[in-house]
Amino acid sequence: MFDYYRTLGPLVRLLDPEVAHQAVVRLLKWGLVPAPGRFEHPALEVPLWGLRFPNPVGLAAGFDKNAETPDAMLRQGFGFVEIGTVTPRPQDGNPRPRMFRLPEDAAIVNRMGFNNQGVERVAGRLKRRARIGIVGANLGMNKDTEDAAADYEIGAARLARLADYLVINVSSPNTPGLRTLQSRGHLEELVGRTRAALDGAVAMGRRPPLLLKIAPDLAEADLSDIAAVSLAGGLDGLIVSNTTVARPDSLTSPWAKEAGGLSGAPLFEPSTKTLRRMYILTKGKLPLVGVGGVASGLDAYGKIRAGASLVQLYSALVYHGPGLVNRIKRELVQLLHRDGFATVADAVGSDTRREGWR
Ligand SMILES: Cc1cc2nc3c(=O)[nH]c(=O)nc-3n(C[C@H](O)[C@H](O)[C@H](O)COP(=O)(O)O)c2cc1C
Repeated sequence: MFDYYRTLGPLVRLLDPEVAHQAVVRLLKWGLVPAPGRFEHPALEVPLWGLRFPNPVGLAAGFDKNAETPDAMLRQGFGFVEIGTVTPRPQDGNPRPRMFRLPEDAAIVNRMGFNNQGVERVAGRLKRRARIGIVGANLGMNKDTEDAAADYEIGAARLARLADYLVINVSSPNTPGLRTLQSRGHLEELVGRTRAALDGAVAMGRRPPLLLKIAPDLAEADLSDIAAVSLAGGLDGLIVSNTTVARPDSLTSPWAKEAGGLSGAPLFEPSTKTLRRMYILTKGKLPLVGVGGVASGLDAYGKIRAGASLVQLYSALVYHGPGLVNRIKRELVQLLHRDGFATVADAVGSDTRREGWR
């Protein structure tokens, strides 16, 4: 079969990263990116929060900030898609350039700053879709907001009936003050108010699960505070993690020093370490979504064995194209079988438990 990505990928990568991204979103929207043959397997099914994920490999937030292509990306083989980050009012984000490829490091640095069309446009698009497949919505605050929690209340209330799950994103490094919301006092208020807004919006209907997306740069004390708030109720899961503000010494690309969040291969270790800590601190009682540097079935399996019930990816798509999704799923089935796990759920946290929860 003609491999579109092998032919077009190198051309797309000659373009400025953001221009290339916009072109890809447009092609997806117009139905010009062919969908691969379906690959699903019973071992990959994940029942969670009353939903049935056909496979555990999701598209991470930031690829489709405005909910323009969730169904096209589901057709590429993803088990779920997370749109956003969306803020109550539209905003432009930071000045360009604000997205950098680091091919030598299989990484990306971005400082987009929540550029998005605002929750009304996004709600309109989500309303019009056929709702085949699981789509979550990632919520943020406007840069100039006075009351951060109020922005999450607005997002949660508006998208409560239109998304299959919601995410409180307090971990992007590109909105000043955002990450301080991860501290205990702020978090209790934020989660309490968002949860109340969500409950109010759905009344008798199904309340979508509410997740929190955290940074990989948190100190142990912050992680245990987050675990305590999570276990006290109000949250149904954690997404671990967002991009990192750290810059490992191993980076060789000339763009490595650009300000913003680093994602891709160099994020795998720190984000998986944070994931394992959260699995331990929440005693395996809270579903976790592992994200950061996933580029193969083995990477996805590593996240699952550390404690993730689901995984997500973004950066690896830029370097490997959408064919990667089915490749990861195939490899994952082989790895599960090799180790005698009948399903993904059986493997969740197996490394962490074997190591005695240390
Ligand atoms: C260009 C770009 C934009 C992103 N925008 C968002 C965003 O709006 N909200 C969010 O929660 N995460 C955002 N992320 C972070 C990803 O969702 C993910 O957590 C991170 O990139 C790690 O995964 P990866 O190594 O597979 O890319 C963005 C990442 C990239 C590369």
